[in-house]
Formats: sequence, C-alpha cells, structure tokens
Amino acid sequence: MSDRSELCTASKDENGPTTVQRLKTSFPEAEPRALAQENAVIATPQELLNTTHRLFLGFDSQKMSQIENETIHLALTSPPYWNLKDYGNPSQLGYRDSLPSYIKKLRNVWRECLRVLLPGCRLCINVGDEYLRANGNTPYQIIPLHAYIVNDIMNKFADRVVYLGSIIWQKIPTTRTTGGASVMGSYGFPRNGYVSYNYEYIAIFKKLGSAPRPPSTKGNERIGLDEWRRLFNGIWSYQSDKQITEEEEINNGIWRFKGARQVGGIAIFPDELPRRLIRMFTYAGDTVLDPFMGSGTTTKVAFEMGRNSIGYDIGFRGDNNDWKEVVKNKIHYYNLEERVRDSTFRLVTR
Ligand SMILES: C[S@@+](CC[C@H](N)C(=O)[O-])C[C@H]1O[C@@H](n2cnc3c(N)ncnc32)[C@H](O)[C@@H]1O
Repeated sequence: MSDRSELCTASKDENGPTTVQRLKTSFPEAEPRALAQENAVIATPQELLNTTHRLFLGFDSQKMSQIENETIHLALTSPPYWNLKDYGNPSQLGYRDSLPSYIKKLRNVWRECLRVLLPGCRLCINVGDEYLRANGNTPYQIIPLHAYIVNDIMNKFADRVVYLGSIIWQKIPTTRTTGGASVMGSYGFPRNGYVSYNYEYIAIFKKLGSAPRPPSTKGNERIGLDEWRRLFNGIWSYQSDKQITEEEEINNGIWRFKGARQVGGIAIFPDELPRRLIRMFTYAGDTVLDPFMGSGTTTKVAFEMGRNSIGYDIGFRGDNNDWKEVVKNKIHYYNLEERVRDSTFRLVTR
C-alpha cells in the first residue's frame, strides 16, 4: 500500500457529477473493501463525490429538528463523560450536573436518535465507566455509566428498541497513577488493590421494525468469514505491550487498535471505531448520524467510506484553534476543491 494516493473530486452540472479531477492528498491508497484497515479510504471516487455531510456546529443534539423522521441508517456516538471532562462550554451536557439529570438529558438525545433512525437500524454508544478519585470522606469508586445508560434506554424505550449487547473495547488503562504506574492500591499485598480500568463499551441497540432493503450494489459490501468474526467478536482488544500476528488475531477473534487521543480538550475516538461500526451496519450511500461529533471523526470516516453523515456538536474549547477549524481540518474539508467543498460539507454554524 503506498502512503500517497489521489482523492477524486468532480464539478457538478445539472446532470450531476461530470468532470472528475484528481486532487493530491495524503490519503493512503484506496483499498478493496476486504478487511477494515486502519486509515484505508475504501470508497470509490464516485462514492466519495456523491456524499453530503451536514454538520450543525453550535447546536444542542437534545433537539435535532433539522433531521426528518426515519432517514438515518446508523447512529453512533461517544457522549460527553458526565463529570470527567470539561469541554469549556457552559451548555455542554452533564458537566457539574447530578447523575440523574445527566442521564435524563442524554435520554433526550437517544429519543431523537430513535425518531430519526430507520426501523431495523442500529444505535451504537461508546461509553466508558467513570472513576471518581478519593476525595475527603468519599473513597475511590467507579460510576457504572454504561450500565446506567443501557438501563435507561431499555426502560424508557422498550416499545421501540432492543438491546443487542456491548462490545468491550480494551485499551490503554485510564487508571494510570501519577508517575506512570499502571497498578493501583496496595500494590504487592492483598485487600486494597483496584482493577485496572482499561476498557470501554460499545453498546448496541436496534430500533424495532424491518430494516431498509439493501441497495443493488450490496455485493460490493460482502464481509468474509474472518472479517465477520473479527468485527462481531465481543472484545476489541488493544495490546500495548505485545505485537500479535495477523494469524493470531484471526484465530483469537480479537480486534486490536489504539485508544482515543485528546484534541482541543475532548477525548476523540480513533478512526477505527466508527470505521468498524460503519462497515458492520451500513452500505455505501447510507447516512450515519453522530449527535456528539466532537472533532468530526465519524464524518471523516463516513466520507472516506462513501457514506453520508450528519453531525451535531454544541462546541468545545479548541487548543489554540477555533474548534470549527479543528473539525474542518479533520473531515477533509480543505482537501476538496473550493467549488465542491460546500456542496459536500454543509456546515451550519451558530
Ligand atoms: C466525547 S466527545 C466526542 C468526541 C468525538 N467522538 C470525536 O472523536 O471527536 C463529546 C462531545 O459532545 C459535545 N457535547 C456536549 N454537550 C452537547 C450537547 N448538548 N449537544 C451536542 N454536543 C454536545 C462536546 O462538545 C464534545 O465535543
């Protein structure tokens, strides 16, 4: 695989895309659809050109009135982490809120997701439990956000949705103590050790009803047995200290990829996470929604895979940059020629 390739872009006349021009980018070469590869652009040039990405920047996803009912094929997201992260926006959902109030506000977002999802399609939520440091009389403890969220959705939307389990995504420990040690508590002796909190969940829900018919191009999206086993394995693993071979990976059915990074104060998820979910649950030309899009990872990957996308974010504190520029840089906005940028990426700002 070469480390440079070309992204095709086209000018549009009233008959749709006509002139295909090649635009140099730093994308890796387009890969066949076989295995989901890190950094692979798997859409064909025509698929890239034919997608649109509507981003609502500065909008609260508790009300997504810009989206029509039952028009989304996959909703995937990583919600704000209650009290753990201050994104620098006083309107952000959950920060300095009580736990019940956080869960209730999130419920508004899930209700909207279920309104816009097509029947038979998936809502996937990446969430890690939260640990609270010892503070005064309060001991170190884990708040099971994943359990609260799954429980809330099953209770409140039982007439609309079924829960299909959660993938465990094993990643770099978040319980590192200062000094870089990854062990906690009474190291060396019993009674007061703590479990290393090195995983998050991807909870999967299905909206009840019959799924949309697959497109006529369905054959292009065939998933072979090895890839299927990998994708639908209940554990996606990141092994920081051991390189495992492709063969071992297939035999173990283990997914392995790196954890999220921090950009502009938010914890972004790796491209690999939306890439796998989009591969598992959509066809080219479908539309993917991320109600907490952050830096725009879901849109970036949806674009690369020839899917349409819609994203919402209320806004976060950029490092040195305007957060909207963080998003534009990420989603390939500036990689497209000016004359097709704004028809491909429809940015609505508040
Ligand atoms: C965990 S981050 C998402 C990161 C994203 N997955 C990425 O890869 O960049 C959660 C995001 O939710 C946004 N957010 C918080 N409250 C919101 C609200 N009420 N409506 C929309 N977005 C909100 C924050 O600004 C933050 O960017």
